[in-house]
Amino acid sequence: MKAVDDYLASFRTLADQADYFTINISSPNTQGLRDLQGAAYLRDLLLTIRNENLSHAKKLGRKPHPLLLKIAPDLTFKEVDGILSVLLELNYDGIIATNTTIQRPSGFTSKETGGLSGGEFIRKRSNDVINYIHKSTEGKLPIIGVGGIDSVEAAGEKIDAGASMIQVYTGWIYRGPFFARELAHALKSKGEDWI
Ligand SMILES: Cc1cc2nc3c(=O)[nH]c(=O)nc-3n(C[C@H](O)[C@H](O)[C@H](O)COP(=O)(O)O)c2cc1C
Repeated sequence: MKAVDDYLASFRTLADQADYFTINISSPNTQGLRDLQGAAYLRDLLLTIRNENLSHAKKLGRKPHPLLLKIAPDLTFKEVDGILSVLLELNYDGIIATNTTIQRPSGFTSKETGGLSGGEFIRKRSNDVINYIHKSTEGKLPIIGVGGIDSVEAAGEKIDAGASMIQVYTGWIYRGPFFARELAHALKSKGEDWI
């Protein structure tokens, strides 16, 4: 597998353009990608990118970019533990939980494969994963919560579960371009100053 080389090449291409980097190893639509979530392989990948980030920043005399990892909701908590220990060991800046799911709610009739996004099923699963990460790291690792956010309440659930920022994908499509602003205003008026 030459994935590390590919990620490194992408990092080098984008290093002067980006404000932060997400290492996304959780899309179900790229064959074999989720295999990279295994702790041994992941450590090699994350270490390589971290070292490149540090040396690139040093060369330019500026701060390194924040580095985050985005994970799938289909991991067991044991697998999540393996990932968390690598992230903490390598001083990653945070985790994004979660990507789309390859599971399906009961009664789901479509035979389409691939990642399922939006709605209650992914919302609840990602809340559980966020809650687990928050408790397991005692809040030491910043979490960006994502999955099924289609309302102010759903965004609030992510914060309650332990996220310090949120990301929206499907909800944005259905709620329109001003959804982010609506969330920001509503949560700010509730006293949340994280947005
Ligand atoms: C069509 C599609 C493309 C996506 N592409 C990416 C991607 O390139 N990078 C990424 O980190 N997540 C990607 N995602 C995952 C979303 O960012 C998000 O984590 C997931 O859909 C769950 O959130 P949601 O329920 O708000 O959509 C994609 C999701 C969908 C449906």
